[in-house]
Amino acid sequence: MVNQTRRDFLKQTAWGTAAFLAYPPSRVLGANDRVRVGMIGVGNRGQDLLEEVQAVPHVELVAIADVYRGRFDEAKKMAPGVLTFDDYRRLLDRSDVDAVIVASPLHTHARHFLDTLAAGKDLYAEKTMTWSIPEAERCLAAARQSGRVVQIGLQWESSGALADAKQWIRQGLMGKVTQVESWMSRNTPHGQGQWVRPVPADCTAENVNWSAFLNGRPDRPFDPYRLINWRLFWEFSGGNVTENMVHQVAWIMSALDLPLPSAASMSGGIFSEKDGREVPDTIAVTLEFPNDLVWTWQSTFSNRHYGLGEHILGSDGTIEHGWEESDMVNGEEGEFTRYYPEKVNRPQAAALVGKSKDQDHMGNWIDCVRTRKTPNAPVEIGYQSAIAVHMANLAYRHKQRMTLEEAKAVVPPF
Ligand SMILES: NC(=O)c1ccc[n+]([C@@H]2O[C@H](COP(=O)([O-])OP(=O)(O)OC[C@H]3O[C@@H](n4cnc5c(N)ncnc54)[C@H](O)[C@@H]3O)[C@@H](O)[C@H]2O)c1
Repeated sequence: MVNQTRRDFLKQTAWGTAAFLAYPPSRVLGANDRVRVGMIGVGNRGQDLLEEVQAVPHVELVAIADVYRGRFDEAKKMAPGVLTFDDYRRLLDRSDVDAVIVASPLHTHARHFLDTLAAGKDLYAEKTMTWSIPEAERCLAAARQSGRVVQIGLQWESSGALADAKQWIRQGLMGKVTQVESWMSRNTPHGQGQWVRPVPADCTAENVNWSAFLNGRPDRPFDPYRLINWRLFWEFSGGNVTENMVHQVAWIMSALDLPLPSAASMSGGIFSEKDGREVPDTIAVTLEFPNDLVWTWQSTFSNRHYGLGEHILGSDGTIEHGWEESDMVNGEEGEFTRYYPEKVNRPQAAALVGKSKDQDHMGNWIDCVRTRKTPNAPVEIGYQSAIAVHMANLAYRHKQRMTLEEAKAVVPPF
């Protein structure tokens, strides 16, 4: 996909499919009416979400769609009687589906997003919202025009930790925040690459709708390794920036009510996982925000000691948020949110510990499908976080600091 014009790219993606459609009205649901749900992409994450949605009261799982038929039996074990399709359009054709969960690979998100809205369904769309910036623009516009309830799978937007951080910031306990540090770290046993999944024996050409998986990427013979390990390759993925940084940048943008970044830089490389993957495993990102703030994010796949976390640094206080981190004091792991006053500016103030409970992100979506309220992770935070992560990847791939304007002008793929 190197010598591609913008027009070629538009032809290859879902763009244009939902552009000027009139969106049908949604079904009005009473408090006890069942919400009838379908799912596109029932792999690892999809099966988690399948469990989650079935745990929400008054939900009926009607149908699933996946290009790999091996998923059908797995889904039927979890949801006996569910209808199965290897073409997602058959699922969207059904009038007995009110709302759709999309948990397909990143490079198909925009297609599934736009077509779900065009079919008049409400949508739960896994992060990152899209594979590229132009697709994110398109999905934002479609979601706003459609009037559909859209929840992005950024579940930390429903977290108690975010609620606590927001409250402390709104109460003015932080003063001026000029810097935020975030990190995300993992490790695996020697010889076992992060993210690498074995190819199941039944993942054969006969069992897979391969051209639907490719979704307009250059044609090639069936390659089950790429189907199962799409995360490792740029055509389908954005690497750890779209897999994990997106959660943290969304969290920080929501906590501090940040606008889009004005510029991004990213360095790193494939330093630990030399297994033929294309996406970097060791990463340092800097995002510059126009309101006097710099955010850094570091990620490694060969040390997990510090887990994942954030330090929000203000003139009047610090918020620290950690998850799966080995606490330096007691060695325990778990999630925590704490506030520490800066004694130079708040000498009498006390430290605080976050206590808010997490909300059920899936339950919040179903609730909004009934009430037509805006969910906790609406399309706007999906859009903002998508732009931020794509700016970082573009900076890495172009080997230069990338401003927002420059990033928006890039014709996909890169
Ligand atoms: N929110 C979270 O915490 C979280 C966690 C993990 C994954 N995810 C996201 O969930 C998505 C899926 O990740 P995963 O790990 O489950 O991947 P996966 O490969 O395990 O599952 C994807 C499924 O989609 C199917 N598929 C591929 N192309 C399709 C198409 N055109 N139409 C229908 N189905 C298609 C595949 O066969 C597979 O079953 C990704 O966007 C990922 O970033 C989110």
